[in-house]
Amino acid sequence: MSTRANIPQHVAIIMDGNGRWAKLRGKERSEGHVAGMEALRRTIQNAAEAGVKYLTVYAFSTENWGRPKQEVEALMALICRGVELEADNLREAGVRVKVMGRRENFSAEVAEAIRSIEEQTAAGEQLTLILALDYSSRSEICDAVRDIARRVQQGELAVEQIDEHLISESLLSAGVPDPDLVIRTSGEYRLSNFLLWQASYAELYFTDVLWPDFDGEELQRALEAYAARERRYGLVK
Ligand code: IPE
Ligand code: IPE
Ligand code: MG
Repeated sequence: MSTRANIPQHVAIIMDGNGRWAKLRGKERSEGHVAGMEALRRTIQNAAEAGVKYLTVYAFSTENWGRPKQEVEALMALICRGVELEADNLREAGVRVKVMGRRENFSAEVAEAIRSIEEQTAAGEQLTLILALDYSSRSEICDAVRDIARRVQQGELAVEQIDEHLISESLLSAGVPDPDLVIRTSGEYRLSNFLLWQASYAELYFTDVLWPDFDGEELQRALEAYAARERRYGLVK
């Protein structure tokens, strides 16, 4: 099968299984996150090489704030370090980084790291990498509904103007095409509050591989599975 045929424009990944990967090796969960960061680095490169134009990765959910303080701190430190270390490589590779999520709960240091990487990579045209950080799809939808209601209240918008396009453009993912393929690693079969609106017609792909073990071959497998799918959108072929 040609690897170039039928490449999804937008791939979204629920990068799951770092904790179990570490546990299997008798390591701390935070070491699993470090290995997960490596897997992300490989995957960005592999996705860009495969011709994917948008890659959204679920890196930290709003619910993840409820994890032990030590783990949350390790994750935040890793995010800061990761974006600082990778900024030059990403820019050189033509990767534009965007963060999708609530921003107000991050420490000043994390907020600055995010602002800086977005600014430094703004001109990237090869691949748009969207980091879902403090992301919750339901909160995103609530915020959009609130925003639309406010515009109606202020007389800016008529109720009749509310349509799917307006809702899509009111979400954090405004301007980004819907994901074609959603991958979840680690053998879990759920969306965990990720892209509930945007993934309505995405193809779903699940693998038992734990995120730190995800590599080019695994991505290729997912892309091949996608290429073999028939997307019908409710129609008859
Ligand atoms: C995914 O791995 C990374 C984050 C949620 C931040 P987990 O930390 O959820 O790993 P498991 O699911 O416990 O193995
Ligand atoms: C989803 O994984 C969030 C991320 C991958 C960042 P979780 O491990 O937090 O999800 P649940 O708890 O298994 O649903
Ligand atoms: Mg998990």
